[in-house]
Amino acid sequence: LKHLLTVEALSDQEVIGLIRRAQEFKQGATWQPEKPQYFATNLFFENSTRTHKSFDVAEKKLGIEVIEFEESMSSVKKGETLYDTVLTMSAIGVDVAVIRHSEENYYDELIESKTIQCSIINGGDGSGQHPTQCLLDLMTIYEEFGYFEGLNIAIVGDITHSRVAKSNMQMLKRLGAKIFFSGPEEWYDKKFEAYGHYLPVDEVVETVDVMMMLRVQHERHDGSEIFSKESYHQEFGLTIERAARMKKHAIIMHPAPINRDVELADSLVEGIQSRIIQQMSNGVYMRMAILEAVLQGKA
Ligand code: CP
Repeated sequence: LKHLLTVEALSDQEVIGLIRRAQEFKQGATWQPEKPQYFATNLFFENSTRTHKSFDVAEKKLGIEVIEFEESMSSVKKGETLYDTVLTMSAIGVDVAVIRHSEENYYDELIESKTIQCSIINGGDGSGQHPTQCLLDLMTIYEEFGYFEGLNIAIVGDITHSRVAKSNMQMLKRLGAKIFFSGPEEWYDKKFEAYGHYLPVDEVVETVDVMMMLRVQHERHDGSEIFSKESYHQEFGLTIERAARMKKHAIIMHPAPINRDVELADSLVEGIQSRIIQQMSNGVYMRMAILEAVLQGKA
């Protein structure tokens, strides 16, 4: 694997390989670097806590030197483009750049370049894809059930604006899960019918194995909020009453950050059926597996 840009580009075998390797790292495995020193940089042009900091931890656990980058202190503020920023990082010896950017498919010009040599890992491109989140979500589901084929999974909320939803619907369907969508029709698109079926949240909550709740992405809306927090929670959220109707073995997921008492009730976040904290922890091990795969051509 030279780059990780979308989940679509991964074979099923590569996905399962990454999950198994992430599980090995979780159990204490170490890697055998082929070079004495690797350099990574995390270029975040959109806000992040989990993705950015878990890549930091993953890189440090692997012994990779992290070249700090802060947009506000960089030459981006003098007008330097993303292309020239990555070109510079590559020229000074960076092996891998993790990038989050608001522009969908920002990576196209980077990987087409004959001069940029470093690997690119997509840490999220606008409303496009979030492959590393998808892979840590898959790891979390696999840890719970041990398989994907035949699982019923609900993806609930602001689907149109969610890169997590897009990566997950593509990969989960390919792996044999049955997908249901719920949430406001305003934030749903008929094109998602290629992956699953739309149903009201009250109909899916009793039947699914996974309730995957999505954040309401205020920053990608046009400023006019169509739901109050309370009305969204009551109409589309995982309330205490709805959660009580879930199957006993079913789990709650959310990529976070969470709007508590909006997408799901506050007390459910750290509740017995929640795997949200596990998702955060798994993010470190999955990102170790991804870094190893792109730096050493493994998957
Ligand atoms: N889930 C996720 O991408 O979180 P951050 O925006 O904090 O990285």
